[in-house]
Amino acid sequence: MAKLASGRVTQKSSELLDKFNSSLLFDKKLYAEDIKGSIAHASMLEAQGILIKSELEDIISGLNKIKNEIENEEFVFDIADEDIHMAIEKRLTQLIGMSGKKLHTARSRNDQVALDFRLYVQKNTLKIKHLLLELEAVLLKIAKEHTNTLLPGMTHLQHAQPINFAYHILAYMSMFKRDIQRLESSYERNDFSPIGCAALAGTVYEIDRDFTAKALGFKEPTVNCLDTVSDRDFALDILYNISVIMMHISRLSEELILWSSSEFSFISLSDSYSTSSSIMPQKKNPDVPELLRGKSGRSYGNLISLLTVLKGLPLAYNKDMQEDKEGVFDSVDTALISIEILKEALNTMSVNKENMQKACEIGHLSATDLADYLVKKCGMAFRDAYKITGAIVVEAEKMGIDLSQMPFDIIKALAPCVKEDILKYLDLKNSMNARLSKGATSIKSTNEQINYFQKWLQEYITK
Ligand code: ARG
Repeated sequence: MAKLASGRVTQKSSELLDKFNSSLLFDKKLYAEDIKGSIAHASMLEAQGILIKSELEDIISGLNKIKNEIENEEFVFDIADEDIHMAIEKRLTQLIGMSGKKLHTARSRNDQVALDFRLYVQKNTLKIKHLLLELEAVLLKIAKEHTNTLLPGMTHLQHAQPINFAYHILAYMSMFKRDIQRLESSYERNDFSPIGCAALAGTVYEIDRDFTAKALGFKEPTVNCLDTVSDRDFALDILYNISVIMMHISRLSEELILWSSSEFSFISLSDSYSTSSSIMPQKKNPDVPELLRGKSGRSYGNLISLLTVLKGLPLAYNKDMQEDKEGVFDSVDTALISIEILKEALNTMSVNKENMQKACEIGHLSATDLADYLVKKCGMAFRDAYKITGAIVVEAEKMGIDLSQMPFDIIKALAPCVKEDILKYLDLKNSMNARLSKGATSIKSTNEQINYFQKWLQEYITK
């Protein structure tokens, strides 16, 4: 196959090489970014007097025609063209002749691919952020409905202290808020235009990199061209950001799986987001959260893979870097569908308040309140109070009841200083509501957190 760029290499390449070397089958995903970048570059060339007006007009109409061809599936992709940049340039030259051959003046595929890929990453950083904001809105809605829904707070997956379900949901809102902030800071850090850096050393033409940066919506051009054509930190940023998002999604998914089991029965996923077993007709399986938990694996893999590709590369561009794209495409697609389906699964699940409440009555969740009572009201040292509380819990175990249901006289027999008001302190809802410190679980503190997130989300809507 005759190559568009057959300079030093004049012999036709082997089919095996084309197959091995080509990135076209995956980087065709960047066609819109490539065309957008080329239009900005050509416009700059014309503004600088390097192209004449009619040449620019030919280029723009040719590129728009190619865009239509690709979107209407009329474009012929030939792996011998190597990549999307060459494929589009070849077609442009077929369509408009000489002007097409001038498009590549003052640029190289090295800055071209750095631009296209960065545009893709920046666009999807915003897309993921918007989906996370929608997820946050669903979480906030659930939180508002459940400030009074008691839930056993756990450590080591053992019942620990009573909390409310809203408070638990707000923990996830906090995680996804940090994810949104991470995406925003990455967007800002990478808001620099690579185009005009050419192969590695800049160019002899009098180009205007501020022009292209502005035309493409970047804050400004990058500072050092040698770094620019070697840099894939922006790709690592999105891979890391997605890995953390997927880790958070995976932790929430794990809870959804546990909570929907018969042992917990705290929630039930809607039928439209559950699947059945092929053999056991009674089963309803939580495939959605299981897949979400499982998909974190590939996003971590993609991050490690690109870090490994980059770690030994000398400056500047090396073909190894062609291995940067598939993992990022995969992670982006994974994140987009994962956030979307998690949002839907949460939005349609039902919460079984009664079972959450019942579960709080197992495990003596107000034991800390008893110890705190002995410290505050009886003047005991915490360690002594801890010991006596332990003895009372053992008694409750023997009687087969929860501490919150313990008769006053039995508590008094073991801790003579207590007054009848101890029963109020042992009540589970009172225990939850006694935690009034900032960021704590009481309904009052939970409502403060809800207001905080509500205000934060509101700012995006009004932005
Ligand atoms: N397909 C290449 C990639 O994805 C484009 C850059 C090629 N540059 C080069 N000098 N061979 O990285």
